[in-house]
Amino acid sequence: MRHAVMRRYFKHGVLPQLMVFDAVARHGSFTRAGEELYLAQPTVSVQLKKLADTVGLPLVEQAGKRIHLTEAGRELHSAIEELFRVFARAEEKLSSLRDPDTGRFRVAISTTAKYFAPRLLGHFCQEHPNAQVSMHVDNRERLLERMAANQDDVYVLSYPPADIALTLHKLLPNRLHVYGRSDHPFARRKRVPIEELAKQPLLMRELGSGTRLMTQGAFEKHGLRPNVRMEIGSDEAIKQAIIGGLGVSVLSEHTLRRTHGDVADEGLVELDVEGFPLDGWWYLAYPAARKLSPTAQVFVDQTLALAQSLSTPAVPAPTPAPVAAGRTARV
Ligand code: PGA
Repeated sequence: MRHAVMRRYFKHGVLPQLMVFDAVARHGSFTRAGEELYLAQPTVSVQLKKLADTVGLPLVEQAGKRIHLTEAGRELHSAIEELFRVFARAEEKLSSLRDPDTGRFRVAISTTAKYFAPRLLGHFCQEHPNAQVSMHVDNRERLLERMAANQDDVYVLSYPPADIALTLHKLLPNRLHVYGRSDHPFARRKRVPIEELAKQPLLMRELGSGTRLMTQGAFEKHGLRPNVRMEIGSDEAIKQAIIGGLGVSVLSEHTLRRTHGDVADEGLVELDVEGFPLDGWWYLAYPAARKLSPTAQVFVDQTLALAQSLSTPAVPAPTPAPVAAGRTARV
């Protein structure tokens, strides 16, 4: 046992006995203690006798009608008061964790999911301003390490592992296109054979990235190896490298700004290559054995409902809360 000194108290029913003793000590009466706890007076006596046996010392003595505490009783009662204060403090914290509006949870998202997942979180936090949420951003492999170490409550990722038992909810479509600079020769062509793409200098995400796994899979399916010009650990830097003329790349469409369906990132265009786009999904995931906290469960439910209500994969920013009447904004 962790605390050998506690062995004496390792018995069924000690906590109710302590509560009975506390009531007797405060009221100086078995009858009134019984009334407070809705117990018959003989039950109070039995509970107190059991506690005295556990402690190994008498706890109360009768003087006339009034019950007095012995020295052992006074010692035990002051310990009980301290114990109950500790319980009350813990209960305060636990009840805030039980309440979805004030509880906390940790979400970890893959690097590419940062283009939409913070907005989903924004919608949740607008409705639950007192919930405490933390968000970690890392590539797929690092997320899997965090899953193994049980570091987060919920994950947003696109390429779930086959060897970890996960609860998976489809969140949004994830479509990967080939992107190039607007003056790239493929920009004017239709259905470019993938063999030709394999010869182009390709900008590839770092090892551990889910985007990289999906891209490699597309080439491998055709028995091809891409001509990797450079590994770059950021979708944003890849876009700039394409514009800088360093090559083409395969990226999630969520990384691109769009207006009315067209790529709005200046100088970038979608290239029409055979075998592309690659169609996948973004998932909300958590270990199958995990019982989500009430706050995390509400986040999952509301986020799935919001994603379902969207007609496009683009997640709108939450609308700012209206300023309460009578409040003036200072500039
Ligand atoms: P990543 O994201 O390429 O940023 O790792 C994709 C994924 O979640 O699999």
